[in-house]
Amino acid sequence: MKEILEKYHQSHLLTFYKELNNQEKDQLEREISQIDFEQINKLYQNNNNQNKENQEITPIQSYKSLPEYEDLGKESVINGEYALITMAGGQGTRLGFSGPKGCFVLPIVNKSLFEIQCDSLKKISKKTNVYINWYIMTSKDNYQASVDFFIKNNYFDYPQDKIKFFVQDELPIVDLQGKILLDKKYSICMGPNGHGGIFSFLEREGILEELKIKQIKWIFIGGIDNVLLPVDQFDLIGFAIKNNFLAVSKTIDKAYPQEKVGVFCKKNNRINVIEYFEMTEEMNNQVDEQGKLIYKDAHILCNLFNIEVLEQVKNKPLNYRAALKKVNYLDLEGNYQIPEKENAYKFESFLFDAFSYVDNVGLLEAKREEIFAPIKNKEGVDSPETALNLYLNYHKNKVD
Ligand code: UTP
Repeated sequence: MKEILEKYHQSHLLTFYKELNNQEKDQLEREISQIDFEQINKLYQNNNNQNKENQEITPIQSYKSLPEYEDLGKESVINGEYALITMAGGQGTRLGFSGPKGCFVLPIVNKSLFEIQCDSLKKISKKTNVYINWYIMTSKDNYQASVDFFIKNNYFDYPQDKIKFFVQDELPIVDLQGKILLDKKYSICMGPNGHGGIFSFLEREGILEELKIKQIKWIFIGGIDNVLLPVDQFDLIGFAIKNNFLAVSKTIDKAYPQEKVGVFCKKNNRINVIEYFEMTEEMNNQVDEQGKLIYKDAHILCNLFNIEVLEQVKNKPLNYRAALKKVNYLDLEGNYQIPEKENAYKFESFLFDAFSYVDNVGLLEAKREEIFAPIKNKEGVDSPETALNLYLNYHKNKVD
């Protein structure tokens, strides 16, 4: 173990080894033995090497919704072909909420993000008499707290046998010099490996097989932190069916050129999402003849996949990107540090990279005020305060 650590310049992980009791030694050894140091080294080097491969980025076209999509999609749901996967494994570092983000309660509305999503699910059963299967992905850290929260809240009166939790994979977190961080003297700092991990994971956990047995055709995969995200996506399903798309996504226009959202584009002629920090100022401001932004279609984590796609991409490699985050850690003097600014890289793969493996992907336009109210930051843009206003505004005149 010492040799491997030396080879990858990670010997500091043994700084406290001599002080540990046998049980702690075992834990540290076990954790170290599970790390693929070659992989972590490569991920760090790739990130440091900002020279990304030459990619040709071009715009993509989105579609308007048609009334017929709604009925078509509803029929598919009534036929039992629809399931929901909620990705609730993020660490919510920007929000600074200790606990699963899904347990965060939206003030005034007085409902947690889990309950808000469940409300949307219940709307489906009201309209179709079908209780769809709900899979919830958590991180290792927030699994138990999420499950306990559901138990405490009586599963928000949704049938318990329709809800299933699963835990996503983790990777070690490194500091800005590529050194793996310690969380305790005998434990390594780990973080969830991003929402892209879901595809290989569904296969490994047997969920893909379960979906096939249940004859589910359409799987909606969304996040937990958008309080307006409707999961009764009848129009999106209908849009996919009508146009023979295997993966579809709802998109909204960017609010302004510099808005910090990823936008859909083609990368080397394959559909993908370009992150806001990868966009040049020229791309941000590029307009067509009508003066509309060319790169305007924001990705809001509102995606629907045909089961065939899940099957197709389950073994495909998705790129990891390094996300700069604030991560608490134990320094080598044995002091627990709570940093004030970003101090570490978490390696995450992204769900939308799977689009590049699919031949027919369609984008359906949606209205921002009806679908997008994210909670990312503690205050300011995309905070509980902005989300609450959007939520209240939307629900003010809405009769379901
Ligand atoms: P984000 O990356 O925007 O938010 O995830 P986050 O990770 O919760 O918060 P920060 O970046 O640390 O502040 C978008 C959605 O994807 C889920 C999140 O729970 C959220 O619903 N997600 C993200 C996962 O399920 N797993 C991950 O590893 C990352």
